[in-house]
Amino acid sequence: MKDFWNERYAAEHYFYGTEPNAFLAAQAHRLQPGQSALAVADGEGRNGVWLAQQGLDVLSVDFSAPALEKSRRLAERCGVSSLRTELADLQEWDWKEHHFDVVVAIFVQIFGSVQRPAFHRNMVKALKPGGLLILQAYTPKQLEYKTGGPSNLDNLYGAETLAADFADLDILHLQEREHEISEGVGHCGMSAVVELVARKRG
Ligand SMILES: C[S@@+](CC[C@H](N)C(=O)[O-])C[C@H]1O[C@@H](n2cnc3c(N)ncnc32)[C@H](O)[C@@H]1O
Repeated sequence: MKDFWNERYAAEHYFYGTEPNAFLAAQAHRLQPGQSALAVADGEGRNGVWLAQQGLDVLSVDFSAPALEKSRRLAERCGVSSLRTELADLQEWDWKEHHFDVVVAIFVQIFGSVQRPAFHRNMVKALKPGGLLILQAYTPKQLEYKTGGPSNLDNLYGAETLAADFADLDILHLQEREHEISEGVGHCGMSAVVELVARKRG
């Protein structure tokens, strides 16, 4: 699987573009300079770099070395120094407890229904009490659009799954939507997504 992602990121261009995900950018009002953020499976860094541009201290984790290399290049190009990258497999990563003010997971649909609950629990574990989880993902309906995302149903999920997995958090926003997405060549066209913003109880 890692080879698949490394090949995807081998090209000079940024597969998902260099602009942040629009849903994440719309959450700017919830973020504060100086906060610590974890960008999980951050790929080429478009979201991690944007978080750093908002003044956050960002750790961008991904298991693709070419992706993180491009992420560091993007950070340099944007003049941000508060982005650190860590090459790691999130299935084996040592998730720190109560460590981050913000955890961001944008189109992280790398786990099927068996591994996903543990992944979601780990993201909650990594949040400080009062910390914010920001997530966007494709829903099963995305299989009709085929404009990005995994092609296997098991890696797609909707609001019901998120409500159950994050029932211990205060849900600030949870919505399924269909709208146009334009993120490089990777995510392009009418799309079916689910959005979540939730706060860990403190
Ligand atoms: C669809 S991309 C999303 C990238 C980024 N979040 C974005 O929105 O631009 C999924 C990312 O998950 C990473 N990935 C897949 N499996 C992983 C794993 N087990 N551990 C860490 N990263 C992984 C891939 O390298 C890829 O960058």
